[in-house]
Order: sequence, then C-alpha cells, then structure tokens
Amino acid sequence: MDTAAEKTSPAEAAGQAGHSLPAWVYRNPEFLELERKTLFMPAWHLVCHQSDIPNKGDYQTFRMLGEIVFAVRGKDGGIKAFHNVCRHRAARLLDDGKGNCGGTLTCPYHAWSYALDGRLVGVPFKNQYDALKEESYNLRPVETRLCMGFVFINLRPGNMEPEDMLAPAAPELAHYNIEQMQPLGKGRVTERRVAVNWKQGTDNYVDALHVRAAHPGLDSLVGDSYDLRDLGHGVSRLSGRIEQVAGAGLSVRAYREILPNMEYLPKDYRRSWLYFMISPSLALNLYPDCVEFMQFLPLDGTHCVVREGVYGHPDTRREVKLARYLNLRVNRQVGIEDRALISRVQDGMGSSSFTTGPLGRNEICLRRFAESLRKLIPVSRLEQEPVTGMVAGINQKMLERT
Ligand code: FES
Ligand SMILES: [Fe+2]
Repeated sequence: MDTAAEKTSPAEAAGQAGHSLPAWVYRNPEFLELERKTLFMPAWHLVCHQSDIPNKGDYQTFRMLGEIVFAVRGKDGGIKAFHNVCRHRAARLLDDGKGNCGGTLTCPYHAWSYALDGRLVGVPFKNQYDALKEESYNLRPVETRLCMGFVFINLRPGNMEPEDMLAPAAPELAHYNIEQMQPLGKGRVTERRVAVNWKQGTDNYVDALHVRAAHPGLDSLVGDSYDLRDLGHGVSRLSGRIEQVAGAGLSVRAYREILPNMEYLPKDYRRSWLYFMISPSLALNLYPDCVEFMQFLPLDGTHCVVREGVYGHPDTRREVKLARYLNLRVNRQVGIEDRALISRVQDGMGSSSFTTGPLGRNEICLRRFAESLRKLIPVSRLEQEPVTGMVAGINQKMLERT
C-alpha cells in the first residue's frame, strides 16, 4: 500500500512538466544525500586551470561534500590529483587554497612525507611500526584529466569523460582557446558560501524570465538579444549580443564603447556574452575579454559554495585592461542581484504555503532539469516532503517500479 506521501496531487495529475521541482528538495538533507550519489559523485569536477599551477609542487585544493582533494604539478610537469588525506591517521595534508609544497608533501601531524607522485617516502620513528610497507600507504590517487586547459577530477570514475560532458558546448568553447589562458583578477580560485540550496544557483543561472525584471545593467547590455537553448546531454546555452540599448548605466556604456576588437575570436563572438551550464553545476561564462568558471557545490541542504576562477589571454592593451575591469563591475552587480534573488527564493521555499509553481513555456532549461531529476531521483516527483528517514526508501521503491 502506498504511504500518504506517495499519493498523487492534483498538480502531479495535471502533468509535472510544466511545474518546478517541489520546495522540499531544496532543503532536505536526505534528498541531498541522493543527489550526492546520483549527480555529484559520478561527475567530473573542475579543480582549476592548468595555469593556476604552472610550476613543480604547485597545488590547488578542492572540497565537495566531505571529499577533500588536491591537484599538484609533478616533477615530470604533469598534473595528478590525490585525496588530501594522510594515510597514517587521516590528517588533512594541505590547507584549502593554492600554494607550493616544494618537492615533497609533509603531513603536519607526525611528519610522514610523500613525493609529488603520491609515494610515501618518509616515516619518522619507522621502527615503532610492525613491518610497515611504505608502498601500501601511498596517497590515494583521484582520476584526473586535462580538458580545454582545465584540470578535472572524478571521485567515482564512470563511463563518461570530461570531453563527453562538454561535448555539446565544445565547438564554441574551442574558439576561445582556453588552454592558452592565464589567471586574471585575484589570480586564484575564489569561494563564497551562500545560504541557499545549490539548485537555487543553477536554476537561477538558466532562468530566462528574470533578466529584464531583475538585472537592469545586464538587460541594458544585451537587450532583446538574450537567448536560451537546451543543447541536450545536460548542457544549457545562454547568450546575448552587446547592443545599443538606451538607458544603460555608466559601466555598461563604457564597456560597450571601450571593448576592443578581440581578433583571436571569430567575428560573431567578438561582441557576444555566452554562457553554458553543464550538469550538474558547472557554469562557463565566455566573454570576448575573459572566461570565467563558476561551480555551485552543495554544503548541506540549505547552503552551497560558489567557486569561481577567471582567465584571459595575455594582452597588454590599455583598453583590454579597462574592458576587463568594467566587465567585472557589471558582473559583480549581476552577482549581487542574483544572490539577493536566490536567497528570497530559498526563504519562500521554507514556507509551508509553497510546494511547486508553474514554469513558463520558454523556461526550457528549468523544465529539462526538473524532468531529468524526476527521472534520476524519482522521489522528487512527490510534492509533499516524506517523513524523516523515509526519503531513500521511497526513492528506491519508486525506482524499482519504473
Ligand atoms: S596523520 Fe599524517 S603523519 Fe600522522
Ligand atoms: Fe540572474
């Protein structure tokens, strides 16, 4: 017999395609555990750009849902990733961020040391251990790939490669020659903790209908050219052309005027802002003057980290520097506006008055994401939150039925 939580609601009966995911999946920790297993563990995650760690011993850390990892440039010039965990008593080896660990990594706890290829090479007081075999305690490796200049890791290798994940966007990404880019801005990957479920970030990124109402600056840059497409395979594409729109603010007007001809790009891309959202939560923002990655990584049911890095081709032209500065100003404002919006939505989804809402016909990416989540994690079809401790069990039952 079905539990009360499994009964079909009128909105469900009317067809879920036109409705958002239910509010409870934007806060429930048991649902996040299902997302961890289904979406995040099998996915490739971007750690940094290869130019963030150019020299031997340079490293960049990455953390997600309890997993701590670092990518490091080895003696041979190659990049490998390892779990950031000492094999002795589990101490985290490297502090979060980027740095250089020299020729070896030494654990701060009891000073076990590891070569850059992960081999355990030093154990103080070795005679205290019974027949310790160093080769059994090398750092645990993590699957690593270089793709378009970015370092990707996978915590549970599946069939897909990062190239497959990026495939729908690849022909356009290739124009930007990202491999050759260097870090810009602060010159490091930044992280910002935001008090919303991670899906608020990804939903908002592909939400087509809010730009006019909520981003006057961005709207005055791209006007009616704003375009949204679902490329399939979990990839959304958004774009806007830099147009003459009346009433633009100072930064937008100055950016439009100062942005020089970026000859490295094909003509069509020199006056375009282009965005990709790649499932589950990687965004690539492609501007003529720079390229930025953004990740929305869950911390718990109602918090996530927005992780960002910005890169560009070395260009000493004054107008390029200025355009990059103005781009940053315009996008900083968009970021402030978006964070305020998603925190409003998170607030509203905590209220017992809201379950789901209708999605516009042109919200093709929101519809596609909701549909794919309902398929992958069918308990998300339920409008009402299951009782505590039941989410995984109900999901399993629903999976077996389909
Ligand atoms: S935990 Fe690392 S050396 Fe003991
Ligand atoms: Fe937005």
